Amino acid sequence: MTLTSADIGAPPVREARLRTYAMTPPVHFTVSYAINPWMDSSVPVDTDLALSQWHTLRSVYESLGHTVHLVDPAPGLPDMVYAANGGLSVGGTVVAARLAFPERAAEGDLYAEWFARNGFGSVHRTTGIQEGEGDFLVVGARILAGTGFRTRRSAHDEVAAITGRPVITLELVDPRFYHLDTALGVLDDRTIAYHPAAFSARSRRLRDELFPDAIIATDADAAVLGLNLVSDGLDVVMTDRAPHLEAELREAGFRPVTVDLSELLKGGGRVKCCTLELQEIRSCPTRSSPTV
Ligand code: ARG
Repeated sequence: MTLTSADIGAPPVREARLRTYAMTPPVHFTVSYAINPWMDSSVPVDTDLALSQWHTLRSVYESLGHTVHLVDPAPGLPDMVYAANGGLSVGGTVVAARLAFPERAAEGDLYAEWFARNGFGSVHRTTGIQEGEGDFLVVGARILAGTGFRTRRSAHDEVAAITGRPVITLELVDPRFYHLDTALGVLDDRTIAYHPAAFSARSRRLRDELFPDAIIATDADAAVLGLNLVSDGLDVVMTDRAPHLEAELREAGFRPVTVDLSELLKGGGRVKCCTLELQEIRSCPTRSSPTV
């Protein structure tokens, strides 16, 4: 008889897949307007500190072997650092964002031009408002899609039609968690971590219905945007302020790598917000977790 890791109570072996990301340096980052509860334009922002924290995040990705492409930041668009909101890239198709607030609207065209110029697949636009990978998270073949604050439900249908992927609508109900990526983190092609209270009663049954191995984050973890993380399947890049979630991830066989993005939290974002994953068509090499 062969024993599996589940039989002996050991965490499953996790495997990293090398990724390609787009990031936009926070050269023009500040908080000059407030469009989410985290933002307070009376609090001073240290742009140099934001830049150095952002550089650390970029180096972490590169030290893990991932590729980071840089998008040019534009003056007057302080939130452009939150690259996840630039669009959604899945299987060689890119859907550029159509952002909800006029303060950020120009970013959609800039990201669309960048995708087209850099050859990251055919670039599509939606008529409905949608905020890219802030509200669309790819989990294996499926796309989880948030609505309630920013992305409209009609855009979920458009993204399903454009990508040909099943899109599962999830309704967000707590204004602190205004994008799906603030309430749910994707760990690998079948595992997520999430904070049930951020979702409507119908949407919160994710673990029962789709993700039996989902990790449940406490309010304390979620309240520091601990779920706003980026995982390659093994290494989970996340805030250093969510120790409980960090321990849970470690126990589940993942390898948390923590970073301090305190200055960028003033705009309402952490790790995932600053990171757009570009899913190319070619298959990527993998690397396994060490066997202990
Ligand atoms: N200040 C930005 C906004 O409110 C933050 C965006 C954070 N991005 C994210 N993917 N959650 O739009």
